[in-house]
Amino acid sequence: MTALAVEGLRTEFRIGGAWHPAVKDVSFTLARNETLALVGESGCGKSMTALSIMGLVPAPAGRIAAGRIVLEGREITGLPEAELEKIRGDRVAMIFQEPMTSLNPVMTVGDQVAEPLIRHRGMARKEALKHALGLLEEVKIPSAAARLSEYPHQFSGGMRQRVMIAMALACEPAVLLADEPTTALDVTIQAQVLGLLADLRARHGTSVLFITHNLGVVAQIADRVAVMYAGEIVEEGPVHAIFAEPGHPYTRALFATIPRMDRAGQDLAAIPGRVPALDAMPQGCRFAPRCPLRREGCERDQALVPVGAGHRVRCHVTTGALADA
Ligand SMILES: Nc1ncnc2c1ncn2[C@@H]1O[C@H](COP(=O)(O)OP(=O)(O)OP(=O)(O)O)[C@@H](O)[C@H]1O
Ligand SMILES: [Mg+2]
Repeated sequence: MTALAVEGLRTEFRIGGAWHPAVKDVSFTLARNETLALVGESGCGKSMTALSIMGLVPAPAGRIAAGRIVLEGREITGLPEAELEKIRGDRVAMIFQEPMTSLNPVMTVGDQVAEPLIRHRGMARKEALKHALGLLEEVKIPSAAARLSEYPHQFSGGMRQRVMIAMALACEPAVLLADEPTTALDVTIQAQVLGLLADLRARHGTSVLFITHNLGVVAQIADRVAVMYAGEIVEEGPVHAIFAEPGHPYTRALFATIPRMDRAGQDLAAIPGRVPALDAMPQGCRFAPRCPLRREGCERDQALVPVGAGHRVRCHVTTGALADA
């Protein structure tokens, strides 16, 4: 069963009077109980993809210009804000990249975890707090009962991240969008949080879109991987195929330092050059200016071409596919 389908998503920002895509023709599906890792360098559009699904693209600078987002069979693109608020935190929830900016500093941790239950489940505060306690215990906050009445600043970074997870999972969403949920954590805490997410997924059948820079994390938790460059998915496939036979020069460059899954324990490799600005994108393949395999034909738009079971690559050089302009 498909929990989430994103079809032809285009999310744009207005720069100097013109609209430029930060997310361009992005499509993927997420089956129930499946984890898709979304990887790519900073500025590639990973967060904007997740925020688009949540209906949280910052307006008026940004907008969803095209595409469909289908959650549990229901199209949610363009729903009025009041309808989106009913879904957000209930059927789809997000763990944000910056825990401190998404927790309310003047609200107790207990009340924050209880809030989605009051809002979406219609629970009374007392009942919701009881439930919140259970959630904080589930994410292994020590002495959770005593800490319900504390504020976010009294929690360590790792504990705040757990609070975020507890909030996101409060209503047992069908889809969890986790935006770099472990980046700020030290390795031990990171492993604990990942274990926790795997646990929760196994128990609730949650589908997870997991955004990360860390390939060790990808190898550990993902079923499939989508590699994003400059707003586009350039490669998508089962995690084993992506590690064993990366097909796009960008994926190969990112994975350069860790050719094998059993050596995966590090961040994406640094590639010379940088992601172009939204208003200065090259024609055709956006990676071409940095690509060691660049040749004639790269200036044309590239199609995602199947290269194996569920494995698609957007590069005419490595796939041998002739791109249509
Ligand atoms: N509010 C905004 N106004 C204009 N451009 C924006 C805005 N937010 C993001 N962008 C641009 O959209 C593009 C995608 O940004 P996004 O935050 O999705 O990247 P990301 O892949 O999540 O990067 P990171 O790994 O650093 O979190 C970038 O070029 C960024 O500069
Ligand atoms: Mg981001």
